[in-house]
Amino acid sequence: MTRADLFAVHAIEQVSHPSPWPMKGLQESLDSHHGFVLEEAGGRLLGFAFVQRILDEAHLLDIAIDPELRGHGYGRELLRRLMDEVMVEGISIWFLEVRVSNLPAITLYQSLGYNELSIRRNYYKDAGGSEDALLMACSTGMG
Ligand SMILES: CC(C)(COP(=O)(O)OP(=O)(O)OC[C@H]1O[C@@H](n2cnc3c(N)ncnc32)[C@H](O)[C@@H]1OP(=O)(O)O)[C@@H](O)C(=O)NCCC(=O)NCCS
Repeated sequence: MTRADLFAVHAIEQVSHPSPWPMKGLQESLDSHHGFVLEEAGGRLLGFAFVQRILDEAHLLDIAIDPELRGHGYGRELLRRLMDEVMVEGISIWFLEVRVSNLPAITLYQSLGYNELSIRRNYYKDAGGSEDALLMACSTGMG
């Protein structure tokens, strides 16, 4: 992901989460962590992800696919490529938080080998209230 991608990333982010990150948050995440995009051959941005690395841990901070293009395998492709090809060296475990109501994402993560570790109560603060997060993890076997 480059700065030039952030407009398209922002557009997808705004329609992907109940409390989306503003442009400033996306910029800060790109500056501080690792940003990735999945693009069509023609350059259309299909989706993106942000990953924070701490020593041998990778933390999936955000992943989203253009709503018009969901259900075609792109989310799986993006995350699998990150885990199997891009962020492999020295990574022994992946972590992520996901809303307990987010069945599509939970199903995707389980299919890629993630297991539930615990529940973080009221992790997501939204305008209308809060929601618990599942903390999930996937060992890479590299540790
Ligand atoms: C989660 C998300 C990234 C998945 O991307 P996607 O491209 O639609 O997913 P894929 O087509 O690659 O599907 C992969 C798997 O996810 C699961 N899945 C996807 N959509 C699903 C749905 N509507 N219901 C249940 N499971 C679903 C299935 O296990 C699917 O595998 P299958 O097709 O073999 O059954 C996408 O739904 C999204 O952008 N959601 C909004 C943002 C978000 O919630 N991100 C996660 C934050 S933790």
